[in-house]
Amino acid sequence: MSATERNLKGAFAGESQANRRYIFFAEVAQREGYRDVASLFKRTAEEETEHARAIFNMLYPQITTKDALRMALEGETLETKMYPEYAETAEREGKAADAAELRRLLNEAKGHFELFAETEKKHAEAYKKELENLFQEYEKPEAPDVPTTKPYIFLSELTIQNHSRRMGEKRQIS
Ligand SMILES: [Fe+2]
Ligand SMILES: [Fe+2]
Repeated sequence: MSATERNLKGAFAGESQANRRYIFFAEVAQREGYRDVASLFKRTAEEETEHARAIFNMLYPQITTKDALRMALEGETLETKMYPEYAETAEREGKAADAAELRRLLNEAKGHFELFAETEKKHAEAYKKELENLFQEYEKPEAPDVPTTKPYIFLSELTIQNHSRRMGEKRQIS
């Protein structure tokens, strides 16, 4: 993986997280009556989405619905493995915690993780069903230990002509 590809992936994670965070920050500001601050967070959140979109288009320039379903299934499958482990950890730490408030928080975290594990399973099943229905894919990918999601074709693999054609198309659309 080139340094720029790694940077793009990191930037995508950061922009995506900033988007969600600002949306929730806007709710905090709204709750406290700071309407202008809430609007500022919402406006900024939208721009972060556009940054994330620009990076997404670079990371996955030729992504198809089938690719998207496979990657989504891979992510959800990973989470169905991850959340039960997170729940166990929260339970273990909760039992070891001295302060009642910390025990309560860890117990709450455990509850969330257990619930998420169930929901992610449903998400994975729904994606798998569509892969089977639309693309006749029956094999269930094993949950990888680490996320292995890769762009299907990275920028450097595309020819310059291909790239400029794509950019031209995009300009016409927007
Ligand atoms: Fe940004
Ligand atoms: Fe999910």
